[in-house]
Amino acid sequence: MKVIKVHDYQDMSRKVANIISAQVILKPNCNLGLATGTTPIGAYEQLIKWYEKGDVDFAEISTFNLDEYRGLGKDDTQSYRYFMNHTFFDHINIDKKRTHVPDGLNEDSEAACKEYDKIVAEAGHIDLQLLGIGRNGHIGFNEPAEAFSKGTHCVDLTPSTIEANARLFNSADEVPRQAYTMGVQMIMHARMILVAATGKDKAEAVRNMVEGPVTPECPASILQLHNDCVVVADEEALTLLEGK
Ligand code: F6R
Repeated sequence: MKVIKVHDYQDMSRKVANIISAQVILKPNCNLGLATGTTPIGAYEQLIKWYEKGDVDFAEISTFNLDEYRGLGKDDTQSYRYFMNHTFFDHINIDKKRTHVPDGLNEDSEAACKEYDKIVAEAGHIDLQLLGIGRNGHIGFNEPAEAFSKGTHCVDLTPSTIEANARLFNSADEVPRQAYTMGVQMIMHARMILVAATGKDKAEAVRNMVEGPVTPECPASILQLHNDCVVVADEEALTLLEGK
């Protein structure tokens, strides 16, 4: 696990965007695993600027998002599909047909998860998987648990995640209670993993991810076993790291 220390959110966003853009330049038809949340917004904005300048071309890439709330579709402003379209895809020359997010509107969770597993499997492998990290160490919506998950599955969100995500809704009551998410094993299959983290409230999760025991109680800790995982984190997120 390689940890890159950056000053702040802006610095993190530029470095993450740099790594993603290098991947796209090196392999124009690459498969990118993408994340939603507050963390990657600055990186997406930076990539849009470089696209507008002609520095990076997204015409041939395919994307696979980590997760989606169960019950929300693309027209729902709180859905992750809506977020991706509005934050990133609508502003670049990506072929929307090659952008994938689990189908939140498929209420049959088994069918929805199977379908997403198939979509990802047919793509071969993900070249670069971008991740944020939850305050409890979750990746995707893989919450602390007794065992690491494998494929796409339906999860019950923990009270801490509902509370953390409530800032994006009118109230915590409106946050969906379930989500479809890629499993930890699927995430680990990506050739390269890029974790972005900023702010003091991520410090404990970052410490457990980088220096803690590998345990499903901190799902991100398994990334220590990946052979090409890069963490880009700011000073605040690294405050609790022993070897910082
Ligand atoms: C988002 C996702 C989540 C977030 C995590 C951090 O697709 O899968 O694991 O990456 O909850 O969220 P932010 O960036 O909002 O702090």
